[in-house]
Amino acid sequence: MCGIVGYIGSREAYPILIKGLKRLEYRGYDSAGVALINGQGKLNVYKAKGKVSNLESTAEGCDTTGYIGIAHTRWATHGVPSQTNAHPHVSASGQIALIHNGIIENYATLKEKLIKLGYKFNSETDTEVLVQLIDYIQRRDSLDLAHAVRIALTHIEGAYAIAVVDTKHPETLIVARKSSPLVIGIGEGEFFIASDASPIAEYTDKVVYLSDNETASLDLRHGLTITNLDDVEHTPEIQTLKLSLSQLEKGGYPHFMLKEIYEQPKTIRDCMRGRVPESGTYIKLSGVEDNKERFLQAKRIIIVACGTSWHAALIGEHLIEDLCRIPVEVEYASEFRYRNPVINADDVVIAISQSGETADTLAAVELAHKSGAFVYGICNAVGSSIPRATDSGSYIHVGPEIGVASTKAFTGQVTVLTMLALALAKLHQTISDEKYDTIVNELREVPSKMENAIKLCTGMENMAKVFTYARNFIYLGRGYNYPAAMEGALKLKEISYIHAEGYPAAEMKHGPIALIDTEMPVVAIANSDSIYDKTVSNVQEVKARGGKVIAVVEDGDTKLSGMADYVIRTPRTLEMLSPLMSAIPLQLLAYYIAVNKGRDVDQPRNLAKSVTVE
Ligand code: G6P
Repeated sequence: MCGIVGYIGSREAYPILIKGLKRLEYRGYDSAGVALINGQGKLNVYKAKGKVSNLESTAEGCDTTGYIGIAHTRWATHGVPSQTNAHPHVSASGQIALIHNGIIENYATLKEKLIKLGYKFNSETDTEVLVQLIDYIQRRDSLDLAHAVRIALTHIEGAYAIAVVDTKHPETLIVARKSSPLVIGIGEGEFFIASDASPIAEYTDKVVYLSDNETASLDLRHGLTITNLDDVEHTPEIQTLKLSLSQLEKGGYPHFMLKEIYEQPKTIRDCMRGRVPESGTYIKLSGVEDNKERFLQAKRIIIVACGTSWHAALIGEHLIEDLCRIPVEVEYASEFRYRNPVINADDVVIAISQSGETADTLAAVELAHKSGAFVYGICNAVGSSIPRATDSGSYIHVGPEIGVASTKAFTGQVTVLTMLALALAKLHQTISDEKYDTIVNELREVPSKMENAIKLCTGMENMAKVFTYARNFIYLGRGYNYPAAMEGALKLKEISYIHAEGYPAAEMKHGPIALIDTEMPVVAIANSDSIYDKTVSNVQEVKARGGKVIAVVEDGDTKLSGMADYVIRTPRTLEMLSPLMSAIPLQLLAYYIAVNKGRDVDQPRNLAKSVTVE
């Protein structure tokens, strides 16, 4: 989704802005632009369709000087991806430039009014309406930029994170947010702004996360002032950023996605650090410990999430019901928020989100709060909107995930859900000491088993070549491996653009089996678990119809691997932990197929990493 970056200080803004845009590329975008005010107070705006590198070519040889500037990567909502629709947008007066992430829902009404007032529009965007509205209010009431922005925002319905500059005041940068993220970095006599901390981390570790309905004035003379839309000043809460540059770079890997797949043994160790003890079995999740009563009184848990996080939620449902005997419902956040769901005050609602910014998940959190439920977040991006909107939660601590296709966040989410289910089972006394100890001891082994899972994938690159030109794929699994199958299919779809479906193996005969022929690869995921033999029978049905079977099985398996065309082995573990093992080969299979097809693995077409619009 759209990314915004801004700078004001004593350095040349342009290189900082371009580098910042590149750091935000992972969010997904289709065009980019930059606005700078040069030393003579002239506004220079450059825009390009496509990559940030196209923007650099467009601006080459032009005046890119200036100590204040704003820049944007756009993910089209209103209006096609084009140079005209790219941000920044400039006011009729030519004085004000604005960048925006979000959606202005009442833009059509406002546009009509502004047209009647004589304003002309160049683009099809909702954003251009806001810059003209600010321009109109500023001129009508002879206001400074900060006041004009605040008044304009009181007329806006929708979501926004904006940054605005005014050629008449090159010493001030104005920003505001409602439901779209915005971080301010505070340096020595300089300020940075961005959609997330990644463009800021190399310059300063002092940050302020702007809250909803707040505006901030970043002024070289008066410093940072935060006010709400009613002009009441707030004291900024300055936080220390814990983000290293190496986490934001590829570190020798050809793609972020491959780096993130290989990182998983380490990230799962980080995720469990301080929670799963090195010896003994007491799981310490402070979010659960601090809210024992709320968890104990819950008769039901609802988990809301989108995309990959929704798949992790389905595994969480199995874990919690299995270990704690509490009913769990898993919902797509986008459906939940609009279907008038029954939410009781004693429910616990768990929101899972890697980015912590997914608009639908955030809205589901707000809805749950209104019903009085206790809301618990499982997120990765520290300081993002969902952790700040929830009552409590657990970070997954897997570090920044840059590849659009989620990998290490998925295994981090499943790991936190496993720890949560174990902690709740202890609390509810629904688990024997022996079973609890066995699971915790095995969980502790997961990182080193993941290292083996990676080693067992040595032949994957070659195997992927066989399937590069397949047009469809089916992924089958049962029990814990059914969500794992859906996640495997999603990975393939996202980055290779091959159509793929994840299905519960036994449901095959109710429809999808009609699709099976010699052209249809079927990935069957099975562990030596309670339903292994049933999965074997389902795979036999596929084989009988000429399907090509790729079996993802535990090391030592003979039955299923004996009937498969291709075999991928994973280390043996408990049934409930098996998705943490099968995730790795499924991610790598999708990765290598996408690489063979020449796809843009880290930034697949049409997708965004952080979906800040609904
Ligand atoms: C986007 C991403 C997916 C992600 C989903 C939910 O679609 O491309 O990888 O799973 O959003 O994101 P969240 O940040 O809420 O986990």
